[in-house]
Amino acid sequence: MSTVISTADSDRLRPSSGEDTGPAVVSLRGAVATVGGRPVLRGVDLTVRPGEVVALLGANGSGKSTTVKSVIGSVPLEQGSLELFGRPLRRFRDWHRIGYVPQRTTAAGGVPATVREVVSTGRLPQHGLLPFRRKDRDAVDRALASVGMLDRAGDGVTNLSGGQHQRVLIARALVGLPDLLIMDEPMAGVDVDSQQVLADILRSEVERGCAVLLVLHELGPLEPLIDRAVVLRDGCVAHDGPPPRGVGQHALPGHDHVHPHADDHHRTTQGLLA
Ligand SMILES: Nc1ncnc2c1ncn2[C@@H]1O[C@H](COP(=O)(O)OP(=O)(O)OP(=O)(O)O)[C@@H](O)[C@H]1O
Ligand SMILES: [Mg+2]
Repeated sequence: MSTVISTADSDRLRPSSGEDTGPAVVSLRGAVATVGGRPVLRGVDLTVRPGEVVALLGANGSGKSTTVKSVIGSVPLEQGSLELFGRPLRRFRDWHRIGYVPQRTTAAGGVPATVREVVSTGRLPQHGLLPFRRKDRDAVDRALASVGMLDRAGDGVTNLSGGQHQRVLIARALVGLPDLLIMDEPMAGVDVDSQQVLADILRSEVERGCAVLLVLHELGPLEPLIDRAVVLRDGCVAHDGPPPRGVGQHALPGHDHVHPHADDHHRTTQGLLA
């Protein structure tokens, strides 16, 4: 697990789908970031190529969520560089190409929103502050149907189970037909039925050619979809290559449970969540 596989080696792991043309979807180089006064990323390299499915693994607190937040521009880099779809972050504007499912927190909160309202926010990069048009509404319906939640469109999200809530967040990420889907621990707190639904959704997104960056606790039912795994240890990349076999809750030292951190301290300067 401590082997760092060269780019040339990991290139050979790419499926021969012909989708690896063009620039990397994500190219994070030497990322250094501090959160809450602590150095959390200490030189992270992460590449996601077009159509590729990359799992980001590591113990609790190793910096997985911080890494994906830096990829969407919500945690600023102190050192290093980030390119999205071949453009440096400061010149990147195509946020509609990225769908992001944040790590679910157990804290209930905020103003109660309906399922439809939450999914509709996924269209913001497309229509901005303009009123919703027919095609936006249709896109929301399609995304809700794809996760099997169309019949719950009018319900408050606070009344949903963990798995249903996760499906709504995924519908929100899919509603803009992204070219890159980023999901932070999508299986955490999700019942077995919803896990299967989720694996099926992901498979169809991958077949459509969407690249996926997944933060995972264990590979589980998503294992067959994963092209490459990057394992973080204490803010550094400990492995970049084939997915480690049999990664379960006990295979990664210290990865005992999921404890999402509050986002309050992250400075959101630009990017998807700006
Ligand atoms: N808002 C915050 N304020 C202070 N420290 C934070 C904050 N968010 C994260 N950290 C710290 O940064 C480190 C990395 O956190 P991060 O959330 O990226 O880890 P993770 O690998 O996603 O962990 P988990 O598996 O628990 O989700 C941890 O030590 C954590 O305590
Ligand atoms: Mg996390």
